[in-house]
Amino acid sequence: MVCSPPGVIRDAMDCTDTPMETVLFVDDSRLTLAVVHDLFKDRGLNIITAEDAESALTIVRREEIAVVVSDNVMPGMSGLEFLSSLKTHSPDTVKILMSAFADLPSALAAINRSEVFRYVLKPWQDDEMLDAVHEGLTRYRLVQKMRREDEDILRSLAQTIELKDPCTKGHCDRVAELALRIAEALGLPKEVQREIKYGSWLHDCGKIGISELILNGPQKLNREEFETVKKHSLWGADIARKANLSEIARNIIAYHHERHDGTGYPDGLLGDEIPMETRIVSIADVYDALITDRPYRPGYSRKEALEKMQKMRGTFHDPHLHDIFMTLMAEGTDPH
Ligand SMILES: [Fe+2]
Repeated sequence: MVCSPPGVIRDAMDCTDTPMETVLFVDDSRLTLAVVHDLFKDRGLNIITAEDAESALTIVRREEIAVVVSDNVMPGMSGLEFLSSLKTHSPDTVKILMSAFADLPSALAAINRSEVFRYVLKPWQDDEMLDAVHEGLTRYRLVQKMRREDEDILRSLAQTIELKDPCTKGHCDRVAELALRIAEALGLPKEVQREIKYGSWLHDCGKIGISELILNGPQKLNREEFETVKKHSLWGADIARKANLSEIARNIIAYHHERHDGTGYPDGLLGDEIPMETRIVSIADVYDALITDRPYRPGYSRKEALEKMQKMRGTFHDPHLHDIFMTLMAEGTDPH
């Protein structure tokens, strides 16, 4: 189900096939609470406000909260303390911090620890707040739907994620198809193949937390932007863990950018430390990325892509799995 393409409709808060979701705003300024209440009214959401973290915690214990947006500097418990305590009290709630510029380093550190999904810099514009809550709701729904592990739902979620980056349209399907060819050639059991398919579909689900400006920019990413994009594997793994996806699918999402020689991310795993199913998907992912147009370069031809892949044998990719992949390509059994 596609509620609304991110960045296109801010009123996705109007998804009609989900029960009314609750967004909680916490701020010691009554004026700010009145402003956000006004901004979000009539958007099909249940809006609750609290003037301090302690009363917000009471609300969280009582009700299911989809998204919480909290100020940081408040009398008593700080916003960051409150949001990190939700890890135990309400793990599914998506957490957004309203941060002053001076607090930015601690907000970013909290994002890196997956304790906070996004920050909104004060003073914020209406659009920034609407976008942040919209993305938060999308992520909340993602976890709820992934938890059902219904094949049609998982595939349509993959397509929803692809909407964030038009260049990747069809990427998840193609990666799954190619990864399954390798898995079949290895004779892996059907249940494992099914998890490889789910992991391939959802491998980039962590991109739901990354701005489209970065994902769709016309130039190559600068260092800082690349560091942000790199976080998608861990953010995705966090979503997958909350959705109780299988270990195989979770590993694919977390480690699909690891490399055989240990130079990948997020953990710099080496060789067999990278789960085998993940090594399969990363070969399929890289090949499909090479043959696909990017905003900064056209896609390579099949021949050029295979030449590039050949240079990645034993560095990027497991040599044994690489050889199986190349054999499939040489036999012309690849789906592309
Ligand atoms: Fe990725």
